[in-house]
Amino acid sequence: MQKKQTLSAFLCFALLLSLVITPANQAASRAPVRGKHGMVSSVSEIASQVGVDILKRGGNAVDAAVAVGLALAVVWPEAGNLGGGGFMMIRRNDGKAVAVDYREMAPAAAHRNVYLDSKGEYIKDSSLIGHKASGVPGTVAGFAMALEKYGTMKWADVVEPARKLAADGFPVWYSLENSLKGAGKNLALFPESNRIFLRNGKPYEDGEIFQQPELASTLDRLSKEGPREFYEGRTARLIADTMKANANGWITMDDLKNYQAKEREPLRTNYRGYDIITMPPPSSGGIALIEMLNILSRYDLKSMGFNSSRELHVKVEAMRRAFADRSEFLGDADFVKVPVAGLISKKYADTVAASIKLTQASSSEKIKHGKPTAYESTETTHFTVVDKDGNVVTNTYTLNGSFGSFVTVEGAGFLLNNEMDDFAAKPGSPNMYGLIQSEQNAVAARKRPLSAMTPTIVLKDGKLWFALGSPGGPTIINTVLQTLINVIDHGMTIQQAVDAPRIHHQWMPDQIRYEPMGIVADVKDKLQALGHKFTDRPGYMGDCEAIMIEDKTGVRLGASDPRRGGKSVGY
Ligand code: DON
Repeated sequence: MQKKQTLSAFLCFALLLSLVITPANQAASRAPVRGKHGMVSSVSEIASQVGVDILKRGGNAVDAAVAVGLALAVVWPEAGNLGGGGFMMIRRNDGKAVAVDYREMAPAAAHRNVYLDSKGEYIKDSSLIGHKASGVPGTVAGFAMALEKYGTMKWADVVEPARKLAADGFPVWYSLENSLKGAGKNLALFPESNRIFLRNGKPYEDGEIFQQPELASTLDRLSKEGPREFYEGRTARLIADTMKANANGWITMDDLKNYQAKEREPLRTNYRGYDIITMPPPSSGGIALIEMLNILSRYDLKSMGFNSSRELHVKVEAMRRAFADRSEFLGDADFVKVPVAGLISKKYADTVAASIKLTQASSSEKIKHGKPTAYESTETTHFTVVDKDGNVVTNTYTLNGSFGSFVTVEGAGFLLNNEMDDFAAKPGSPNMYGLIQSEQNAVAARKRPLSAMTPTIVLKDGKLWFALGSPGGPTIINTVLQTLINVIDHGMTIQQAVDAPRIHHQWMPDQIRYEPMGIVADVKDKLQALGHKFTDRPGYMGDCEAIMIEDKTGVRLGASDPRRGGKSVGY
């Protein structure tokens, strides 16, 4: 009897211990989606499935990524797009990495003061709502460049799944229903947007089939005539006509014809032994990410503990400094000199970090940008694809705000971006995201607005380990930073790292943003005692879509962010 009791006590103890210490119980996250061959993580299960179908047909990660991007233009109209732009980071299994920059360009009619009145004041909403908020779209040119140089399939074959989704329709899901309703007031300002996206006042609900015949025709033309059709054919004409009728020809046939996607050399750094490959200008994301990693590498974040007051304090101080530099130095490097090498050097991080005190918060008023060495660039969506050969694509693209400028191109069925708001419409004054920016990012004809989009790849021993990215305006950079640190410093699984609560600080305003239930009260108290200030309106940030390669098996682990209901699909 005695023996039996001892045995059962032992078994109970062993069970309890195993519950406490097995990795699956380190935090209450789902297991990532597993796929032996390929994986797609995106905000939409339909789009992820489109990508996996392409992979199963023998397409590579770039073929699948282009098909996913075009499918998202149909099923996630708030950010997936033909009328916007973005960045695609590609790393082939032979080690070659490139960044395809298909960011929008300002039309020829744009100039520094285009959004200011005669007194030099910003004209409310002028860079946010309506036809003049749009830059020249880059998505079609970027996808075509990526496919031609790094894909294997024909353009028409990767366009077809999107065309079919637009023609046959797809069931609206809850997130889409919500965002359509949320944007109702602004979409209703434009008759074509009101008709297509709000069904003239009767918005689509969860489960209803949403067909987009005009968009299907546009995709059909693109499929048959090739990507230049968008810039020189009937689609270009429809964009130019919409602009002529409503905005004095803000975007012209010439602007469209002259649009150029560009291949750029990614930025690289090493963080605690892992190689990081990330986005150069015209994104600010890669530079700020590297500057923060360089600063944080001075601290033992692991022993400080995840989201402890000490760890949060140094993260916030790193964010404060990198965003102060962003504000001062960054812009389109094709137009202005950006001290890239200086900002991402480890030596520079040492000088910047010297002002961090562990016992006191800095004040953003007093933290100005640093002095890097001499000169030598609310709604987005991210998806990541890994194929059977280990090629990876990590792509963030956007219309900027949810549903962009709210303007639909008449007869073409797609929305246009409001990316012009990413310029400093009035240098020194905050934009939609509260970001203050300098003359470096002032408006100019054919210039690209500064972005925060940060598609990023992490290598272990020279091989792909994980890839990630997120929407969220300026919070993108900090979402990528924290997810990366969660894996590398805190040893989280990729899904735990994506799920974990996030914070954000962007120098100005001098406050910590955090997620509901994201910081426990006594940690907040300690940070306040150090002098940190908090927003009084916590809210969720980002939608990180990531894929990791499992160490021993090579299985692809898909981690989609619970915040927007995305889904990884693998095979
Ligand atoms: O390029 C940028 O930084 C912004 N246009 C991104 C906007 C965004 O992420 C909004 N998403 N929630």
